[in-house]
Amino acid sequence: MTADLTAALSGTRILPVLTVPSATMAAPLADALADGGARCAEVTFRTPDAEQVVKAMAAHGGLVVGAGTVLTIEQTERAVGAGARFVVSPGFDPEVMQKCRELGVPVVPGIATATELMRALRAGLDTVKLFPAEPLGGTSMLRALAAPFPRARFVPTGGIRPAHLSGYLSHPAVVAVGGTWMATAEHLERGDYAEIRKLTAEAVERSAP
Ligand code: 3PG
Repeated sequence: MTADLTAALSGTRILPVLTVPSATMAAPLADALADGGARCAEVTFRTPDAEQVVKAMAAHGGLVVGAGTVLTIEQTERAVGAGARFVVSPGFDPEVMQKCRELGVPVVPGIATATELMRALRAGLDTVKLFPAEPLGGTSMLRALAAPFPRARFVPTGGIRPAHLSGYLSHPAVVAVGGTWMATAEHLERGDYAEIRKLTAEAVERSAP
């Protein structure tokens, strides 16, 4: 991973995951997250405006903005073209990994099994997204999976809510915890940026050592 992503993830150990319906929401959302103390954000490629949202949020300057739910080479190119400084995928796709390598952008692949983790490690990727963390078994799955792989670092994501945070963050192999709870579809629909700021600040505070 590049130094800026490592610094951003390890700075707060919180990775807000965002599915943003409209690029008009990008600026107030970036302000709310940064004001709440977030250092980075993952914009999922699940909406038609995702590319524009990455572009607008990257312009904020206070956040290291990456792209999530990146499933194809074409999405990888669009995400990086829009200014994404890292790429997250729900799974391990060798072609997406290779494209990220070519483009010189750090990538965090999703893994759910020891075999997938071994493939990521063999590809030189030490930091993986444990996904979907809660349905997989939460912190007991994390502990069991991390034990044989001392080199691996994890960004558990999927079904995580504030009550789970301390359990994940107390594991030394967890770089950061990701999730949507700080900025949900409902918050965005209501334009409730004050609540996004508040939930982000609470998460950042809980993650402090
Ligand atoms: C992801 O793509 O990382 C997940 O959809 C996160 O969503 P959740 O935090 O609501 O499970």
